Amino acid sequence: MEAGDFKDFAKAMTDYIAEYLENIRDRPVVPLVKPGYLRPLVPEQAPDKAEPWTAVMADIERVVMSGVTHWHSPRFHAYFPTANSYPAIVADMLSGAIACIGFTWIASPACTELEVVMLDWLGQMLGLPECFLARSGGEAGGVIQGTASEATLVALLGAKSRTMQRVKEQHPEWTDTEILSKLVGYCNKQAHSSVERAGLLGGVKMRSLKPDGKHRLRGDILQEAIDEDIKKGLIPFYVVATLGTTSSCTFDALDEIGEVCAARDVWLHVDAAYAGSAFICPEYRYLMKGVEKADSFNFNPHKWMLVNFDCSAMWLKQPRWIVDAFNVDPLYLKHDQQGSAPDYRHWQIPLGRRFRALKLWFVLRLYGVENLQKHIRKHIALAHLFEKLCTCDERFEIVEEVTMGLVCFRLKGSNDINEELLRRINGRGKIHLVPSKIDDVYFLRLAICSRFSEESDIHISWEEIKNSADEVLAQK
Ligand SMILES: Cc1ncc(COP(=O)(O)O)c(C=O)c1O
Repeated sequence: MEAGDFKDFAKAMTDYIAEYLENIRDRPVVPLVKPGYLRPLVPEQAPDKAEPWTAVMADIERVVMSGVTHWHSPRFHAYFPTANSYPAIVADMLSGAIACIGFTWIASPACTELEVVMLDWLGQMLGLPECFLARSGGEAGGVIQGTASEATLVALLGAKSRTMQRVKEQHPEWTDTEILSKLVGYCNKQAHSSVERAGLLGGVKMRSLKPDGKHRLRGDILQEAIDEDIKKGLIPFYVVATLGTTSSCTFDALDEIGEVCAARDVWLHVDAAYAGSAFICPEYRYLMKGVEKADSFNFNPHKWMLVNFDCSAMWLKQPRWIVDAFNVDPLYLKHDQQGSAPDYRHWQIPLGRRFRALKLWFVLRLYGVENLQKHIRKHIALAHLFEKLCTCDERFEIVEEVTMGLVCFRLKGSNDINEELLRRINGRGKIHLVPSKIDDVYFLRLAICSRFSEESDIHISWEEIKNSADEVLAQK
């Protein structure tokens, strides 16, 4: 493809994208296709001869859109939101054009340097303490990981290397294997499954602790578990505090947990994957009280801050525990300026990395902090609107306090009846929700996901839920 065709193709695609997104609420939110639907729609082999771009364009609705779940539809209420905005889409085009692999500073200085500055901008927007930011002049700073799961694993590896070094100094006679077998980490039972997985990948024990009655991990629960393990000869080394759990968006008591970790020299990582975006609004920062006690902090602008996937922001007070511990330095990756700017390959698991800071830069400049705050506040207000509709209908109950854009609700009654309710709702095909279960109580989660969601959309979703409930209760 030459530049002329590229311009025509890209213009046609831009028009298509704008039309798709602006009219997304008119499409069925989940496609009606069955597994294997796509193979018969495309040839068995790749074409020998080049096709015109118009032929590809002509197939998008038929082959692709017929099997797409529309995550940006106001009718989509499953999981948590995933971000989408025009500035981020355009930034990804530019990133695709530059197409550098920014593993070291010299591999593309702008790629590294814009990331350092963007993570400082973002950290200040959240009200993170200076001790996390590169502008503080020390070793601290931020990095863009692909996902929150990677950030949790990277933090665990940092915690592991810090503790290994300390224990080796205290017990030079112990072997690495002996120390490793004693390491133990902790999280809320409600923490995301990626935390347990980080333990498996890192080859260390992770204990899931039963939270308090409000599903929050508290300092005393952690303290008790740590004391119990120390008595058994184990070495507590890592704690993940979740701010905004996946099931019900509850917040661990970070301040209390921070104190316990500080007293035992245990690495504290904060997983605020979804809810972290809300901290750009000062009125929600009370939920991250104690953040200064953490060693690492992570949230996903790609969830709720209008930056398209993948963009998971992570800050480390002492990146040396990752940078130095996993430093392999082949000659072909060395350069003369080593040490004067971060070589981000040492801060992450893969070597290769895209120019993702462009997405942040475009979104932060083209929205401005004010409009991003409006986006967050609007989603939270819409969640409260749904909560109100739900509480006004005495057949329903709210399962968890609504603080962000997620409402956990159920029909008063058995789990079975709620399972049937969800089947009906999703079966009718107009809106899409997923369930969760805590302490054997099954409930439905309604997340406000789309940046196009308006009050009228919430009323439509509520009508769907109410009508489905009428059907379920009538059948009963
Ligand atoms: C609290 C929490 N942590 C981690 C994750 C995993 O996020 P990612 O897909 O970026 O790894 C999620 C996903 O929803 C989450 O809610």
